[in-house]
Amino acid sequence: MCGIFGCILKTGQAAPVIHEGLKKLEYRGYDSVGIATIDDGNISLKKDSGKIDEVHQWHNLDDMPGRLGVGHTRWATHGAPYQENAHPHTDCKNQIAVVHNGIIENFAELKSELVEKGHIFKSKTDTEVIAHLVEEKLKKLSSFVEAVRETVKMLEGSYALAIISVAEPNKIVCARKESPLVVGVADDSLYVASDVPAFLSKTNKSLVIENGEIVVLSDNGYQIHKIGDWQSVIRKPELIEWAPEAAEKQGYPHFMLKEIHEQPIRLRDTLRLQDKYLELMTTFLDRAGEVFLVACGTSYHACLAASYLFSKLSFLATHPVIASEFVEQHGKSVNIDSTLLVVSQSGETADTLEAVESARLRAATVLGLTNIVGSTLTRVSRVYIVQQSGPEIGVAATKTFTSQISVLSQLAIRLAKKRGKVSHTEIEDLEESLERIPDIAEEIIETKEQKVKELAKKYGNQKCFFFLGRGMASAVALEGKLKLMEISYIPSLAYPAGESKHGPISLIESGFPVIFICPRDSTRRSIIGNIMEMKARGASIIAIIEKDDEEIKKLADDYIEIDTGLPEVLSPIPFVIPLQLFAYYMSIERGNDPDKPRNLAKSVTVK
Ligand code: F6R
Repeated sequence: MCGIFGCILKTGQAAPVIHEGLKKLEYRGYDSVGIATIDDGNISLKKDSGKIDEVHQWHNLDDMPGRLGVGHTRWATHGAPYQENAHPHTDCKNQIAVVHNGIIENFAELKSELVEKGHIFKSKTDTEVIAHLVEEKLKKLSSFVEAVRETVKMLEGSYALAIISVAEPNKIVCARKESPLVVGVADDSLYVASDVPAFLSKTNKSLVIENGEIVVLSDNGYQIHKIGDWQSVIRKPELIEWAPEAAEKQGYPHFMLKEIHEQPIRLRDTLRLQDKYLELMTTFLDRAGEVFLVACGTSYHACLAASYLFSKLSFLATHPVIASEFVEQHGKSVNIDSTLLVVSQSGETADTLEAVESARLRAATVLGLTNIVGSTLTRVSRVYIVQQSGPEIGVAATKTFTSQISVLSQLAIRLAKKRGKVSHTEIEDLEESLERIPDIAEEIIETKEQKVKELAKKYGNQKCFFFLGRGMASAVALEGKLKLMEISYIPSLAYPAGESKHGPISLIESGFPVIFICPRDSTRRSIIGNIMEMKARGASIIAIIEKDDEEIKKLADDYIEIDTGLPEVLSPIPFVIPLQLFAYYMSIERGNDPDKPRNLAKSVTVK
């Protein structure tokens, strides 16, 4: 996730305005920044890795000529956060500058064709191909806008683009597919950005650019066209009523809620990971003598779910381990045949890195899954995958958890394929089902939020909850409990439901709330038995169920019914979403700030 910004002013200098706009977009990424402006037939460019304030201190971002330009604040996806990988990216002759938010899936093929034609690349990013493609198109076409249109037709993946060229120095040409893009309209200036807060201090008149559209900003105003048939689109700006602070959260009251709602988009992004890294990691897992899945907190819960996935699909036994226990529990047994698949959103968690260090000293192979390119985990891993969730600001992990599960599911499916353990049709079904998950997540959020909110009202005063599931759902139960506990401060228990009789059931008395996670999988009959044993002791049963599960509906006091139709191994993502929402609304019910839970930090860099 990155932030893009562009502006055309009637008078004055664009660079300070772009700088100010990028500051407002810093929440979308902050590992590098850059600005390009046009003046007198030349492009001026300043960019570097670092936070915006740092880069400004080194390069004075405000001191650039021209009343038109584009800028970018980066969250690395392809290529580490080095200066050459920062946007804007330019063509061979520095006559075209591009800023981009999104992922170009077919950049490797496009790049090799361009290299064959003699283009010289300066960065390792997917974005740079766009500048060279426009350059290539302009050799045959006289119109800059037409060159951009022909370029975007060749791109697969997602993009919000803003492009400038000395060929037509009074225009910014922008295009959108999936990544967000909005235009701001003022009397004496026009803006384009990833998000409204970037220009809200200049104008509150804004319009959204839709998928498959190009918008051209010029001194004559803005013009929107459909990329496919070049049909002209008439769209008037609307007035934005948000206060600037609310706008950063896109109108949501908290980042956590915004991030819960963002999950469908982020899940789509995780389906665009580069094939070669998934394949490489799968090969390492296939050859490993033993595999440890190592992480803390929410990331550990993703590992726990993955241990079921690897076993059920790829017939690979793995050991999920809480990182802070790894050295004590397994430190001495680790050896050259051991492989650690290490999961850390931040890539900087001290306990996780300590486990990695001890394993590396014993010659084990370390594979990393993280959200942060350039984090310590990416530096110490033999292969790493970046999960493409974008910055997560709410302390409680939500979108990063579901993205982790999506990536781990992809690895397990690939490994199953490689090992020939699952039939061809089953693999196809799993792959198709993975593609459907973002839409399923979207529907759950759209249709169940209100019901969850009502449940939070009803159960808001409870002093303790149980979260129970079996099989993969026990990992979901643990995550649901962690979310509730950390932001609403309600002590709760979660464990595989079969354990009830071995102790915890003694806590149950009349009205005690027990949340059951009940996908329609091989554990369903047993979980119904567990519901009955709790019900017999007076517990209030809240069940998260598949659509039309009439049997459980009859047993439950309350239920959230979700329509997935997914193979059982893919149930964690849809089933965790109502629990994330429940934790959020419980926190609100109890008057807490869910974004900043007491005593917690987003990245735990101390042991
Ligand atoms: C809970 C939460 C934490 C983190 C844990 C590991 O909502 O966010 O439990 O999951 O601190 O952090 P990472 O994944 O950055 O290693």
